[in-house]
Amino acid sequence: MRKRVVAGNWKMNNNLEETGALLSGLKTKLEERQGTEIIVAPTFINLPYALEALKDSGIKVASQNMHQAENGAFTGEISANMLTSVGVRTVILGHSERRAYFGEKDEVLAEKVTTALKHKMQVIFCFGEELEERKSNNHFQVVEEQLKAALFHLDKGSWQNIILAYEPVWAIGTGETASPEQAQEMHAFIRNVIKEKFGTEVSDEISILYGGSVKPANAAEIFAKPDVDGGLIGGASLDVDSFAAIANAF
Ligand code: G3P
Repeated sequence: MRKRVVAGNWKMNNNLEETGALLSGLKTKLEERQGTEIIVAPTFINLPYALEALKDSGIKVASQNMHQAENGAFTGEISANMLTSVGVRTVILGHSERRAYFGEKDEVLAEKVTTALKHKMQVIFCFGEELEERKSNNHFQVVEEQLKAALFHLDKGSWQNIILAYEPVWAIGTGETASPEQAQEMHAFIRNVIKEKFGTEVSDEISILYGGSVKPANAAEIFAKPDVDGGLIGGASLDVDSFAAIANAF
């Protein structure tokens, strides 16, 4: 049975007080929820506080990024060792906003994935096509290239620590959610690309999340699709009731 995951990517939102209020609400609504792995990803500065607030709740805490180097002259960056030293064991990598605004290319993302796995972290790896790439019907080729460039250097055993997150860029923050059929079509394609390279022992077990304007109103239909194993949630993860409703949408 593949792991079901609902992860909230808070992006650059919530100061310390707002973080505390949101976590308190989520803990009340989602503590010890069985059957689905719940993850929240605050900003770096709030990670230790979130770990303390959520301890014993069963809700995991993830970082939204990390640098590929062990340490060094990289002003403003955070290393894998710094994250694991405070108890963070999951990291989101490859988000489209990191690619678009901070110039993260496939080659760097491959290094980040390698470093995270070296530190025994769980990686939520994001990828997805731009609107123009879908309109020109290149979306399958783009997604396959993103996967191959950043993940196909891994050995089979590494995949147990990978969660894939397909996030069509045109659906992120736009309210233009991919239809359940579009999501299922791409997730099935992704699973087959993985199968062709690594076999069914990897492709049958890898959790593939959908991200891009998931809301309480559309989550259940998307999550019901056979190759969708949950969601990576942005805006709706900042509201207790919305995120809880999505987490309970299976
Ligand atoms: O990482 C998840 C995020 O990109 C999706 O954002 O606001 O469309 O749910 P949103």
